[in-house]
Amino acid sequence: MTEFGKVAVLLGGSSAEREISLKSGQAVLAGLLKAGVDAHPFDPSERALTELAGFDRAFVVLHGRGGEDGTLQGALEHMAMPYTGSGVLGCALAMDKVRTKSLWAGQGLPTAAFEVAVEGRFKAETASQMLSRLGGKVMVKPANEGSSIGMAIAETPEQLAQAIAAAHEFDREVLVEQWIDGPEFTVAILGERALPVIEMRTDNAFYDYQAKYQSNETRYLCPCELPEQEELELRALALTAFRAVGASGWGRVDVMRTRDGRWQLLEVNAVPGMTETSLVPKAARAVGIDFPTLVTTILAQTVE
Ligand SMILES: Nc1ncnc2c1ncn2[C@@H]1O[C@H](COP(=O)(O)OP(=O)(O)O)[C@@H](O)[C@H]1O
Ligand SMILES: [Mg+2]
Repeated sequence: MTEFGKVAVLLGGSSAEREISLKSGQAVLAGLLKAGVDAHPFDPSERALTELAGFDRAFVVLHGRGGEDGTLQGALEHMAMPYTGSGVLGCALAMDKVRTKSLWAGQGLPTAAFEVAVEGRFKAETASQMLSRLGGKVMVKPANEGSSIGMAIAETPEQLAQAIAAAHEFDREVLVEQWIDGPEFTVAILGERALPVIEMRTDNAFYDYQAKYQSNETRYLCPCELPEQEELELRALALTAFRAVGASGWGRVDVMRTRDGRWQLLEVNAVPGMTETSLVPKAARAVGIDFPTLVTTILAQTVE
């Protein structure tokens, strides 16, 4: 595959998700090499981006801040270096769960009720009212993290104040979201297409870091058990939600569903996990796209 020239696989980085990115990046690298692409690993936490000058394009497999949040994409734009996935705006919005949800709510897309606790402005004395406005049980999340980092469940004002304080260690803005009691799904997006839905089932209190990366107990259902019509509806919703934040190319949309059957959009991942066992490759496999084909399809999006 000479049409792609020399490809830098951007992996590692310095965010809290560095370790996951190293694994995703190694898998992408192996997949590209297997497909005959002249691919090389490139860790921006170890090398200056100016060293990309000798490459023709970049495959971005950096998760979290500094890689998935639009800053790196801005630098690549500046260097006129073609890169995979969403652009500056799509990445920046997708990274920010608060603005993502505001945007969805503004467009009438379904997402759970939420409030924002800003560091220095949030008063612990108001935790009790916040909790009752949001239905008595909430999920607390730093606005700009991934991999369930810094997240906690709160059901009492004390727990809420404590969870917000803990999440402020990660972010100035903390999202406090109404608890959703129901099953959880994810939809991979590849180009203009939403791939088959995957349902995740865990016995943990939620799909936390352990359930995501360490547990052998987490179950992934693909095909999922939704009736065909509902699956199609969810795929269409995910694609709309993905485009609404300006995301493009490839990615993943996380969604839950209330017991009475309402979808609730959680977040968009602009650079989701890409190990061979990650969710996007799983969904791709369900429609006959193997890993080397998946990564070359994503890379091909950088060629006009
Ligand atoms: N409002 C909520 N109610 C119940 N569970 C939630 C809620 N928000 C998130 N979760 C759980 O936490 C997990 C991680 O949340 P998510 O918003 O996808 O953030 P990230 O994956 O970036 O850490 C979800 O996969 C889900 O299991
Ligand atoms: Mg998620």
